[in-house]
Amino acid sequence: MFITFEGIDSSGKSTQVEKLSDALTKLGKKVLALREPGGTTVAEAIRTILLDKKNLIHYEDELLLFTSARANLVSNVIIPELKIGTVVICDRFADSSIAYQSFGRGIKREVVELINNFVTQNLKPDLTFVVDISVDTMIERTKIAKKIHDRMEENKIDFYAKVRNGYNVLSKEEPNRVKIIDGTKSIEQIHETIIKFVQQKLN
Ligand code: ADP
Ligand code: TYD
Repeated sequence: MFITFEGIDSSGKSTQVEKLSDALTKLGKKVLALREPGGTTVAEAIRTILLDKKNLIHYEDELLLFTSARANLVSNVIIPELKIGTVVICDRFADSSIAYQSFGRGIKREVVELINNFVTQNLKPDLTFVVDISVDTMIERTKIAKKIHDRMEENKIDFYAKVRNGYNVLSKEEPNRVKIIDGTKSIEQIHETIIKFVQQKLN
């Protein structure tokens, strides 16, 4: 089973990935939690390039870098692990490129879809949770965490509003796969909602 988490920055994805991973491990499942971009030596190196503020990266190269990292992770880790029955949980996946590079940056959706399908070898998640928060909540949370902004986080408010809308569109197009979860609820409440959906799929 392949489960992905999506949402704008600081929506609470990695918190929920960890909780779901622990819960499924306790149920006796073999679980592998990953993050994008990352998860392999090559993809982590690409992540460093992508998030470094010193780097001048345009929309086209940004898309190709994110998707190169994805190609490396899919072929080296995700597909082999799914083949041996591991539950793979990924913090971001192909939908991030649709939301950020297409809805956010304005790259034609068909271009992003074509590249995504190529690098994922047409692999689709069984379930995708979009942890949904407003842009105001995102700004609040990054202030509280006193987070140092990376290159992606230098984007303007309206960019994040477009990304959030992109996720909403995706959930309307594929309601069986893409579930919007209210990210302003407590960490426990969100986890309960998520585990219910996962258990439905596992049964
Ligand atoms: P992401 O992986 O989406 O960037 P994180 O899981 O790192 O998000 O969470 C971002 C920040 O928000 C952290 O400081 C985390 O403790 C906090 N946080 C996570 N979930 C919630 C929640 N449901 N309510 C309030 N704060 C949260
Ligand atoms: P990360 O620190 O993982 O973000 P978050 O705190 O939201 O989990 O940084 C990843 C950044 O890269 C984030 O701003 C989203 C962006 N991104 C894309 O723009 N396209 C993509 O395909 C992926 C995977 C991420």
